[in-house]
Formats: sequence, structure tokens, C-alpha cells
Amino acid sequence: MQVVEQAPLQGLNTFHVSARARYLVTLESPAELADFLADPRFAALPLFVLGGGSNLLLTGDFPGVLLQPHFLGRTVLSSDTGRVRVRACAGESWDGFVGWTVEQGFAGLENLSCIPGHVGAAPVQNIGAYGVELKDVVECVEALDLATGRAVKFTADECRFSYRDSIFKRQPGRYLISAVVFSLPHAFTPRLDYPGVPEALAAQQDSGPLTPARVRRAICAVRHSKLPDPAVLGNAGSFFKNPVVSQSQADSLKAENAAMPVYPAGSGLAKIPAAWLIEQCGFKGYRDGDAGVHEKHALVLVNYGRASGAELWALAEKIRAAVKARFGVELEPEPNKL
Ligand code: EPU
Repeated sequence: MQVVEQAPLQGLNTFHVSARARYLVTLESPAELADFLADPRFAALPLFVLGGGSNLLLTGDFPGVLLQPHFLGRTVLSSDTGRVRVRACAGESWDGFVGWTVEQGFAGLENLSCIPGHVGAAPVQNIGAYGVELKDVVECVEALDLATGRAVKFTADECRFSYRDSIFKRQPGRYLISAVVFSLPHAFTPRLDYPGVPEALAAQQDSGPLTPARVRRAICAVRHSKLPDPAVLGNAGSFFKNPVVSQSQADSLKAENAAMPVYPAGSGLAKIPAAWLIEQCGFKGYRDGDAGVHEKHALVLVNYGRASGAELWALAEKIRAAVKARFGVELEPEPNKL
């Protein structure tokens, strides 16, 4: 276990916001949790489990403990039942892991390519992109219960995954995810129905057979064409969830805004792209000092340099208020706010 007091966090969040944590504690193995729980310095402090910091907005110094698992390792557990079962430890880079599965010739994760962050954070918000969600490929999630110190295992059903949500998201500070087991099909069923993906495939020089590796390259190309690279321009991906509204509310909004995209979201419900609502309110490319909205994607808030977390949050509030006033729709922020 490594403990840093008054730890600088600028390099540990993809918004590159400058802030400090009272303690940053890193664990090299699950066995070290016992030392952490027995340490009186941490007993009464607020606790937040930190992954890659790619879904986090620090609005000031954090007066508690940031606990970061550095558990590494990825293994094939079995490959004999029509599916390949693969286990990845929480501290692995998500995209490094996806790239590794694709190199092995395994299918199922290629549409989730190029998403920043760590494996351990992926189940928390049930990451999803280009027609695939994590819940489609998870067999179980291994975690440490921070209340008892015990190792626990959740089946995919027990994780209660839904759009950008899970039991882990609803109980922050209760569990530290230690590893995720995936069940990937032997058969490759490409998911190419998302706008932009077929075009990116068609633009490839390679005209050989369609493979998970080619789909991965296409997905990365689509992402790079419209989402800023956090290593270059601070951001946390989509800042808001796409709002789910009643079909009747969607119908009346559509009657007044014929161009508004609407997607089905289960019985009596409809999903509206938050990016469209935000763009209509004039925020695409908008800037308040160093806090801004990306010029190529209205759902991505960016730090052009020295924006504080509080300034980014103020911009988010301004956007929410404008969308609410014009469309009557509430936007819910996606990143965790500390
Ligand atoms: N749109 C606009 N203006 C924009 C951008 C988009 O009006 O500036 C409209 C367009 O109509 C477009 C629609 O919004 O068709 C949807 O845009 P996009 O395909 O880029 O997807 P998204 O709904 O904005 C979601 C996820 C992304 C994920 C993509 C692709 C959420 C909150 N975000 O974005 O996830 O990569 O779909 O599947 O569900 C993330 O969570 O950080 C993330 C990047």
C-alpha cells in the first residue's frame, strides 16, 4: 500500500483539473485492503475509488481518501463452450485490454475500442458505444466490499446494469471492483449499424475479410474524428447522459422541432440526444474562459488550459438551465463530481 498526503491530482483526471486529495492510497493487490481498513488515519474520512480519472470532475480539493487499485493481469479462463471467458484486473487500461482481446482474435469488445479509463471503472457506469454495452459481454464482476473487507462476486444480473448505471454507480464508496470476467462469443457477429461505422470501414485501405481488428480500427477512426483526445485537450467524454423522456413528451417536442432525432427506449419511453438539445441552445463551440464545449461535439465539455473544476461545473449548470428553459428536458451529468 502506498500513501501520498496532499496528493496532486492534475495527472490523475482526464479534465487535467488542478486539485489535491488529502490522501491518495494505491493498492498493489486485493490483500492490501486489510492494511487500508485497519489504518486509523482513514477511518472517518470520505472515500472515493479512483480508476483512470476519465469520468471525474474535481470541483475542489478532496478532503478524504482516493483509493486506487493497481491490480494488473489479464487471462483466458476457458475457451471450450462456444465462448471465451477472459478475466481482467481492475487496474488494467480498458483500451489496452480491448486491444489485447482483439489481437488474440476474440470478438465482442471491438465496438468498445478507444474508450479511456481502467477496466475496474467500466462496469460502474456500464460503458457503451456504437451499439454495444458492457453488460452484453460481462459474466461477473469481482469486488471488495469496503464495509466488511470481504471479496464478493456479482453476476451480470446482480449488477443491475442499465443505461450508464449499475449497483456500483448507485452505492459509491461501498465496493472496490477488483476484476471483471467477460464471456465472449467464438462467433464474430459484427455490429456495424451505428452511423459513421460503415463509412469508416469503407474508407479503410484493407479490403480483406472483416475481422474484429478491422472493426476496432473503424471505431477508433470514428471516435477520433469527433471526440477530443484527453491527452491533448482535457475532457471526460460525454458530460451528460442522453435524456430518456416519455413518448408523449418526445412527440410534443418533435411536433415543434421536426429535425430532432428521437430513438426508442423501451415501452412508452424515448431517448433524445443531449448533444442535439445543447447544440440547438447555441453551446457547440461555446467558451467561458478556459471552460468550453467542444467545437465538433456538443456533449463534450473541455478544459482549454487552466479551467477549474468549479468553472467547468458552472458551465454545465448554464447548459442544463438553457436546455430546461427551451425544451423542458432535464440533463443529468455523467461524470462523478467530487
Ligand atoms: N448531435 C448533435 N450535435 C453534436 C453531436 C451530435 O446534434 O454536436 C446529435 C446527432 O443527431 C447525432 C446524435 O446527436 O446523431 C448522437 O450523437 P453521437 O452518435 O455522437 O452519440 P452520443 O449520443 O452523443 C453516445 C455516448 C457516447 C458514445 C456514442 C457512440 C452517451 C452519454 N454517450 O454519444 O459515449 O461514444 O454514443 O455510441 O450515451 C461517453 O459516454 O463518454 C461517450 C463518449
